[in-house]
Amino acid sequence: MLPDTRAVSGVEVAGGPGEPVAARLRGKDLLGIAELTVGEIRLVLDTAEAMKEIAARPIKKVPALRGKTVINLFFEPSTRTRTSFEVAEKRLSADTLNIAASTSSVVKGETLADTALNLEAMSPDLMVVRHASSGACHFLSRICRAGIVNAGDGMHEHPTQALLDAFTIRGHKKRIEGLKIAIVGDLLHSRVLRSNVLLLTKLGADVWVSGPPTLIPPGIEQLGVRATTSVDEAVEGADVIMMLRIQLERMLGGYFPSLREYFTVFGMTAERVRRAKADVIIMHPGPMNRGVEIASEVADGRSSVILEQVSNGVAVRMAVLYLLAGGGEHETAA
Ligand code: CP
Repeated sequence: MLPDTRAVSGVEVAGGPGEPVAARLRGKDLLGIAELTVGEIRLVLDTAEAMKEIAARPIKKVPALRGKTVINLFFEPSTRTRTSFEVAEKRLSADTLNIAASTSSVVKGETLADTALNLEAMSPDLMVVRHASSGACHFLSRICRAGIVNAGDGMHEHPTQALLDAFTIRGHKKRIEGLKIAIVGDLLHSRVLRSNVLLLTKLGADVWVSGPPTLIPPGIEQLGVRATTSVDEAVEGADVIMMLRIQLERMLGGYFPSLREYFTVFGMTAERVRRAKADVIIMHPGPMNRGVEIASEVADGRSSVILEQVSNGVAVRMAVLYLLAGGGEHETAA
């Protein structure tokens, strides 16, 4: 168990040696923010506070997941998510395996279901899955006994990214409710957008989204956000600016005339940042296209928390893994 015992938001996050875990996520999986209650989101964020403290120790390891096996199954490229899950698993003492699609039997034509069921035959406790198809993790959740953690499925959700983003915002602003948060970029293809909109609106933020009209999903206002094609309007008085990558690999058509023109009209420049509050924080989930959606002077500037997001990703993923696989039996959904 975690050696650090602390009561946060009335929840005893972690017991001492041998003590039971007082609160858990419902069910065996983390598939999306859509399935999480506000209480569960707060539980993850509060647990991540305790996990962050572990990273500051000389020995960055606790036995919370000793004897548990976690398989990281990535069918799409990843730098941050895959490595931070692996670091999180190792810090919790889980046994970890990494499987990339390019080195698996997927290249010989094996289906997603067969790959997952063959891995499941080796009795993992959790499988962390990234896949290009929206809904792939929900599908695996239905056929696998192991818990499934969504590490990004197509254009659907990227729940741990939204959780680490919320953790970073809360760390700087001490709250999320009532903040003006501008999310700017390729909204249409972004699972990060969807998970962040779901999470930030659940926690009461005033969320604005902005991008070219061709990259704004129709009906996005129904998720409780304000949409505008004017980046200047979106960032005016903002507490947080979150930039999204232009996902050229998911674009079949011409959504805007050129990258140079995109930067001129929608790129985050120092001049645009000055429209926001003086203590605005600049976020980007990565990977960044410098000079396309964000100027280097903004990405590397004093308001940028982009690398802090990466650090916080480890603590948040430790929290998710711990709340799914640590301690006793799962509570069943009501
Ligand atoms: N933010 C994010 O998902 O980055 P990776 O694609 O590198 O994992």
